[in-house]
Amino acid sequence: GDVFTHDPGFTSTSACESTITFIDGDKGELLHRGYPIDQLASKSHYLEVCYLLLYGELPTAAEMEKFENTITRHTMLHEQMTYFYRGFRRDAHPMAIIVGVMGAMSAFYHDSTDISDPRQREIATHRLIAKMPTIVAWAFKYSIGQPFVYPRNDLDYAANFLNMCFSVPAEDYEVSPVLARAMDRIFTLHADHEQNASTSTVRLASSSGANPFACIAAGAACLWGPAHGGANQACLEMLREIGTVDKIPEYIARAKDKDDPFRLMGFGHRVYKNFDPRAKVMKESADEVLDLLGIHDNPTLQVAKELERQALEDPYFAEKKLFPNVDFYSGIILEAMGFPTSMFTPIFALSRTVGWISQWKEQLSDPAHKIGRPRQLYTGHPFRDYVEVENRG
Ligand code: CMC
Repeated sequence: GDVFTHDPGFTSTSACESTITFIDGDKGELLHRGYPIDQLASKSHYLEVCYLLLYGELPTAAEMEKFENTITRHTMLHEQMTYFYRGFRRDAHPMAIIVGVMGAMSAFYHDSTDISDPRQREIATHRLIAKMPTIVAWAFKYSIGQPFVYPRNDLDYAANFLNMCFSVPAEDYEVSPVLARAMDRIFTLHADHEQNASTSTVRLASSSGANPFACIAAGAACLWGPAHGGANQACLEMLREIGTVDKIPEYIARAKDKDDPFRLMGFGHRVYKNFDPRAKVMKESADEVLDLLGIHDNPTLQVAKELERQALEDPYFAEKKLFPNVDFYSGIILEAMGFPTSMFTPIFALSRTVGWISQWKEQLSDPAHKIGRPRQLYTGHPFRDYVEVENRG
């Protein structure tokens, strides 16, 4: 038969060529189009990084202004989409709503489903980046029974998102610039991460020629799992379960016990076996936000700090090269900002949309791309003849 390699989890298989993101897991290096993530996180901002990921170069001032205007023009959702939201149970997980709404965009923006037209492909990328904050904020508002807040195009990307999440018609709400900056950093640090599970899902979905909204919805569905984007929610839930600092050694012992499936959520990474460069920046941001909000007595956050300290000192975690990952710290920031844990993965999905759509765009412009079709190692029964029901058992 055919000769092929068996590689479960694709740990040694390259599925595409890409010029977008480079990761050196041993060095703890993450580059977007060559630029290191720590420089981007401190000097740039999310929409500029979006431009960089999509177009390959940092924008000039004029290019940036044009891009910002374009994104701002597309922030509204079709008004009819509010009915789609209202069809969900009010206690639905926001990710369930988001996966549905993203897929449903194919029904609302037919013109952008024509992937043979480069202009429509471009508009689809802009629509997705522009509408994601609205889609995610509305899923949140719906889940807490508050009216939808429409986008405000005078605010920047992150501030507009916070405003749509936290403002209510009856009260004055002004977005704190420090929180907007921290939100922007969370977006920036999650913008792309080469061929992770959700991005590979987008590429596999797109390899059949599926429309961009369907592909991105597939990526979001994959992101939802606790081993991927669901880790930030799982991490915070674990911190709450631990509850008090004195319980930490018990949980560390469980994480080390081979007979116990429990793992420390927010620790470890498939690619970073040294440290996660995003986690370093996110940790600084977490300290800034906690200081600004004057939160020093939140028990969950106290458990987080102490768990981080104890795990980093433990030889088991050092030997296996398990460090707090980006989601450990993003969870802390989002908790401090007042987001419920169910919103953590949606915020990751919002941030990663640009990565998904940049990789989608790159794939379609690669003349060598073809439909993804992994092989398998069949371990089932060999050939046998059908047995009539009366002769079975
Ligand atoms: N707690 C305790 N032990 C762990 C952990 C952990 N969080 N992660 C890995 N290990 C152990 C694991 O038991 C194994 O031990 P042994 O070699 O003795 O069998 C060893 O470390 C290697 O683990 P693995 O599962 O083979 O490694 P992987 O590369 O397949 O898994 C991972 C990577 C991220 C899925 C895993 O570390 C994990 O489950 N972490 C917790 C979930 C999490 O925080 N995920 C977010 C990842 S970052 C955001 C994103 O990209 O989505």
